[in-house]
Amino acid sequence: MLEVSGLTKRFGSITAVDTVGLEIDEGEIVGLIGPNGAGKTTLFNLLTGIYEPTEGSFSLDGRDLTGLNTGAIAQAGIGRTFQIVRTFNDSTVRENLLPALMFGRGEGLGIPEAREKAMEYLTFVGLADKADEPVTNLTTAERRSVELARALSMQPRIILLDESASGLNPSEVQAFSESITEIRDEYGISIFWVEHIMDAIMGTVDRIIVLHHGQKIAEGTPEEIRNNEKVSEAYFGEVV
Ligand SMILES: Nc1ncnc2c1ncn2[C@@H]1O[C@H](COP(=O)(O)OP(=O)(O)O)[C@@H](O)[C@H]1O
Ligand SMILES: [Mg+2]
Repeated sequence: MLEVSGLTKRFGSITAVDTVGLEIDEGEIVGLIGPNGAGKTTLFNLLTGIYEPTEGSFSLDGRDLTGLNTGAIAQAGIGRTFQIVRTFNDSTVRENLLPALMFGRGEGLGIPEAREKAMEYLTFVGLADKADEPVTNLTTAERRSVELARALSMQPRIILLDESASGLNPSEVQAFSESITEIRDEYGISIFWVEHIMDAIMGTVDRIIVLHHGQKIAEGTPEEIRNNEKVSEAYFGEVV
């Protein structure tokens, strides 16, 4: 479904993403790991049109999306959340979902219908009781859930999650991991998930891709990645 080929992003002399190729199937949950600075967020920024690739291309359902702007890519079906939470801070929790419900890939709801539909997604992420609170009243963990509900509201084909479980306590991480699986099962949406919390990612994903210095150095089942020497070196070889 998502096909990435030779994707490269250079910032001056730094090659943040270096000829990365990968594929993600419909309904697949794929983890993306790698040490700090490996290029994970930059890869997401390429796949969502925030940066234009220096080289390479990517497509969704056979449609080339390379070089399109963020809005066009979201419309094509790639949703995301952010490593540093970005909610619409002048709005209530519910209002944060309205643009996606009105102008996303769904049926283009009017305001009253969108306000009602928002409750479905807010219930899904466990925030129904906070729907009409200012989003700035929420904890960071809750605002991560608002971002997730907003991404779902676009009715994407795939959601890119950038460290969505960071800052959560262990039971929240567990609940979050379960909701990832539910998103796939209930909505049929694929997930591409960057996460540092290894237990969470290893227990949830079908497959893991490992980046190091911008390059894909490994790919496999959680079990294969756990036993991969190159991966251990990438993580532990750099400890100083
Ligand atoms: N806008 C930018 N300008 C210059 N360098 C950047 C920019 N964004 C990221 N980088 C560099 O690209 C590399 C990869 O960063 P990033 O994608 O944030 O890694 P990760 O998310 O895996 O921690 C790092 O060396 C980072 O400093
Ligand atoms: Mg990052």
